[in-house]
Amino acid sequence: MKGIILAGGSGSRLYPLTLTTNKQLLPIYDKPMIYYSLDLFLSQGIEDICLITSPQHIKDFEKISYTLKDIFSINLIVQDQPKGIAESFLLSEEFIKGNKVMLVLGDTFIHGKIPPPKNTGATIYAKKVKNPNEYGVVEFYNGKAISIEEKPESPKSHYAVPGIYFYDEMALEYAKQIKPSARGELEITDINKQYLEKDQLHTIELDNSIVWLDAGTYDSLFEASEYVRDHQSKTSNCIGLNLKKVHE
Ligand code: G1P
Repeated sequence: MKGIILAGGSGSRLYPLTLTTNKQLLPIYDKPMIYYSLDLFLSQGIEDICLITSPQHIKDFEKISYTLKDIFSINLIVQDQPKGIAESFLLSEEFIKGNKVMLVLGDTFIHGKIPPPKNTGATIYAKKVKNPNEYGVVEFYNGKAISIEEKPESPKSHYAVPGIYFYDEMALEYAKQIKPSARGELEITDINKQYLEKDQLHTIELDNSIVWLDAGTYDSLFEASEYVRDHQSKTSNCIGLNLKKVHE
């Protein structure tokens, strides 16, 4: 299985922190944000990954890739315009062709062991939240999605879809078929809808033993830092990539 990590976006909700820095490089306590999402690949035994970012940040990620070269083989790809998460399949076509893929959004902070994905179709996760309308929202029953919508005004459930997804070899074909949404982006939710239509969208709930934090606002970024600091000082267990191993 190959990995794709998307570290693009303008990070406008975090201005001016993101004026000169990529959002995924902002600190969550003692590490850049992307060290937490990259760790999700290691938990699945994936080391061969493709990192997609915007032209103005490619140099920074070259440095990150070099720093992490003993852990990951990272292929860097530029996304010229923020044309959506699903464009990442098109941009990485040569890399993923004929392979299953784990896709992670570079601002995904998950602490805890996620249940393994299913072997067929696509697997997404569902986390109960108070503000589902800010996310992709999934309705599911017995491990299968019934509906999925991108930031709906009237959500059909309280379950948001975190930025970690598993796909079979078909994702690339589906990415070629979808059209840009009203906001001009190729939506990952539209890829998921293709799997849903074929009754292949497995959905696994993340229970309370798993923490998912959205570090996309000043408050949530600060809370994420506090969370890592508290946990690491109380347990002496590292969250995210282990700095001692990476930088020793
Ligand atoms: C994206 C996806 C959305 C998902 C969210 C997770 O939203 O489009 O379906 O729930 O990531 O963080 P964005 O953050 O790009 O608005």
